[in-house]
Amino acid sequence: MYTWWATAAFGLEGQVRRELQALGLAGQAETGGVRFSGSAQDGLLANLWLRTADRVLLLLAEQQVTTFDALFELVKGIPWEEHLERDAAFPIAAQCARSQLMSPRDCQTISKKAIVERLKKTYRADWFPETGAQYQVRVILHNDVAKICLDASGEALNRRGYRTWTGEAPLRETLAAALVDLSPWAPGLPLYDPCCGTGTLLVEAAFRMAGRAPGLKRTFAMERWRLLDTQEALELRVQAQSRFNVAAIKDIAGSDVDQEALTLCKRHLQQAGLGNRIAVSQAGVRALSGLKEGTVILTNPPYGERMGERKQAEQVYRDLFALHLATPKSRLCVITAHPGFERVVGRKAARRRRLYNGRLECDFLTY
Ligand SMILES: C[S@@+](CC[C@H](N)C(=O)[O-])C[C@H]1O[C@@H](n2cnc3c(N)ncnc32)[C@H](O)[C@@H]1O
Repeated sequence: MYTWWATAAFGLEGQVRRELQALGLAGQAETGGVRFSGSAQDGLLANLWLRTADRVLLLLAEQQVTTFDALFELVKGIPWEEHLERDAAFPIAAQCARSQLMSPRDCQTISKKAIVERLKKTYRADWFPETGAQYQVRVILHNDVAKICLDASGEALNRRGYRTWTGEAPLRETLAAALVDLSPWAPGLPLYDPCCGTGTLLVEAAFRMAGRAPGLKRTFAMERWRLLDTQEALELRVQAQSRFNVAAIKDIAGSDVDQEALTLCKRHLQQAGLGNRIAVSQAGVRALSGLKEGTVILTNPPYGERMGERKQAEQVYRDLFALHLATPKSRLCVITAHPGFERVVGRKAARRRRLYNGRLECDFLTY
């Protein structure tokens, strides 16, 4: 059994914990992530299936450290030889917050020295070529507690493999998946995104509806690690592939005023393997009508942050609210960094939740 740490954007830890629970893995939510124990296969399962986590890390050691000497000893005490082959590459990335050790660069250098020191003894060598499998080491210091981890994901989990170009203001896939889950939508209800841009919300909702593992079409760093049994890993992938039922997708659609964004959106839908299951068209919000009764309108409209764009964004908000009022039994769910959405549309939301789109503080409002 290993201890795993699934990192999550601030505010999404509970969501990640619920996802782990649905995978049969009991987790404990803490600031910045969820801790869970499980086998190597469980680590891969989490990588393949978690929709809202940023990364899955193998937690090797955790301790309070306030000096570089203490950090050195902590890192050197880890049995690295159990994980790293003689030719393993082990780059280090450090992040420090609210701690006495606040220099990521120094933490990286110290940790590298400590690992080399340890490996020198085991492998009786002075030099390591680092030409083999990648073991990205992550040193995370928060409130003077250091977590020493190996990054089992490799590329961050939002990189699902369907996005080629990012468009003007795309939502991170992990946040889009969280919004889908936090909204009142559930497979069976119609979902519509009237400002769909490059299509992130549509793709993430469709993945959920089709039982599509978000990591199905990408690989993870840990798939090259020796702790993972190749046959069992293959079985997890085969199972994930067999659960993907594209024919289950229905009643997910969207539109956008911008033709360029739509071209990208269509490309992403194809690359996500969603074929023609999702209809998207060019239209401004104001021109929309005739959405199905009970539609969940889930959208990430412009925020109007730049000078001169605020008024336009506010008009889009009024149009969105009018579309909601014109659609019987619809729900409207909007993520925006504009602080005055409720004032602009003249109605308080039934639910409001604070979330972060990157570093941008946003509200997720549900009507
Ligand atoms: C923040 S972006 C949405 C990004 C999208 N969630 C994605 O993942 O790519 C806002 C989108 O609203 C669209 N938009 C702006 N005004 C609009 C309007 N009046 N009607 C429809 N779409 C509009 C923009 O073209 C842009 O694609």
